Amino acid sequence: MDEKDSAGTIKRGILQSKRLANKGMVAVAILAAGRGTRMKSQLPKVCHALGGRSLVERVLINCLSIEPSRRLVIIGYQGGLVKTSLKAFDNLEFVEQTEQLGTGHAAQQLLPHLEGFTGDLLVLNGDVPLLRPDTLKLLLETHQAHQNAATLLTANLPNPQGYGRVFCDGQNHLTQIIEDRDCTTAQKQNRRINAGVYCFNWSQLAKVLPQLTADNDQQEYYLTDAVNYLSPVMAVDVEDYQEIIGINDRKQLAAADAILQARVKDKWMTAGVTLIEPNSITIDDTVELEPDTTIEPQTHLRGNTIIRSGCRIGPGSLIENSEIGENVKVLFSVVSDSAIAAHTRVGPYAHLRGHATVGEACRVGNFVELKNVTMGDRTNVAHLSYLGDATLGNQVNIGAGTITANYDGVRKHRTEIGDRTKTGSNSVLVAPLTLGEDVTVAAGSTVTEDVPSDSLVVARARQVVKPGWRLETAPKPSS
Ligand code: UD1
Ligand code: CA
Repeated sequence: MDEKDSAGTIKRGILQSKRLANKGMVAVAILAAGRGTRMKSQLPKVCHALGGRSLVERVLINCLSIEPSRRLVIIGYQGGLVKTSLKAFDNLEFVEQTEQLGTGHAAQQLLPHLEGFTGDLLVLNGDVPLLRPDTLKLLLETHQAHQNAATLLTANLPNPQGYGRVFCDGQNHLTQIIEDRDCTTAQKQNRRINAGVYCFNWSQLAKVLPQLTADNDQQEYYLTDAVNYLSPVMAVDVEDYQEIIGINDRKQLAAADAILQARVKDKWMTAGVTLIEPNSITIDDTVELEPDTTIEPQTHLRGNTIIRSGCRIGPGSLIENSEIGENVKVLFSVVSDSAIAAHTRVGPYAHLRGHATVGEACRVGNFVELKNVTMGDRTNVAHLSYLGDATLGNQVNIGAGTITANYDGVRKHRTEIGDRTKTGSNSVLVAPLTLGEDVTVAAGSTVTEDVPSDSLVVARARQVVKPGWRLETAPKPSS
């Protein structure tokens, strides 16, 4: 029976995964052992970042949607870095490929690990980060419905250069797959390419893997050769070829980033977010936005950031790993690892970092830095201040140029400031220090001792005025 959600629409995902479960186990293997020479980088190619996540992380996340029973990652060149970039994921099996002799050789390393496994194996190149989960599901469904030995994802590219070419009969049954560099000029005219995403009947693949030879231009063992030995093999075209672009060099990385950005912005604009001059804005796909928020030009939203509705963020701002409440304005500012509650105004030129937590209807103004500060509601720090390791109550007013001296050269100390307290301009609050509630700090004070509630503190030399005073060398005024 169809399962329906409250809106009455069929829960396709649940249905599909049930159907897949009935058809037997699916394991996933990601090929991530290569160096990626064409990147010209010390970092393994699959560890390069795209929209705040590594390439291999993106590939893995995409395949988790099919709920694989096993998740294998083939590592080799700087394998430790690849492992680190996947440390957030459980139940991964890392398979070492000590020498990188090609994608077929990488798949051969799976043989001892998948001994006795009888299901299907999805193999993905670690450098194909933009695949949609639905496309993988379609691949798997086609594979299982036709009981193929192998099924691979293909696309017709306007510029197929560099990709393996796929030749099929009229029924999408594969006749041959040839790497770009091994193609004749005539074969290169074929624009149907191998995406590097395959579904295999594992038992059949396991039989042909030992037969691979390195008899090709690169003298490598090609996984694509295994496909040539199997039958029946089908090709499934993706509708949107942008999904399957493989990242081999920095230009392709930039092209993939542009595709990802276009997807993310499309999604948020459809959901009711205004983006002004979208081309100048970047938004990681880990960011969440609410309707009726406006993102102004030159603004960059990164990591685990949430921006609630009615906000105006930018121009010229960077927000990372932060939560911004409703109707907040942030102008030309940097906010990292912090939280800002509703109706607060930040900037221009403010810097919030290190778990700054700002209350409702506050003002954090020009050239203000907040580090590890908790601020109550309706509290203002309007100009030229550094507040670090401090707790401020409600309706506090921090005068221009107030500084918390939080560091004694060895340790950091806290400053506590009670409700409705006001600091005069250019005060220095030497921590550890507690100012009670309703305290007034005279301008220019250097406060080193705690101040009880309802007090005025003046901590500076009293002004001295000497009427008629002149330098001794100066001529006396004529009387
Ligand atoms: C591969 C395909 C090509 C396809 C293209 C799609 C082969 C022989 N060719 O070419 O048909 O059109 O992908 O993007 O498979 N890797 C290892 N160990 C190795 C070599 C590679 O794990 O020894 C990994 C790499 O880290 C990478 C993936 O396999 O993630 C693909 O390798 P790459 O060298 O990029 O293959 P392509 O030349 O792009
Ligand atoms: Ca590639």
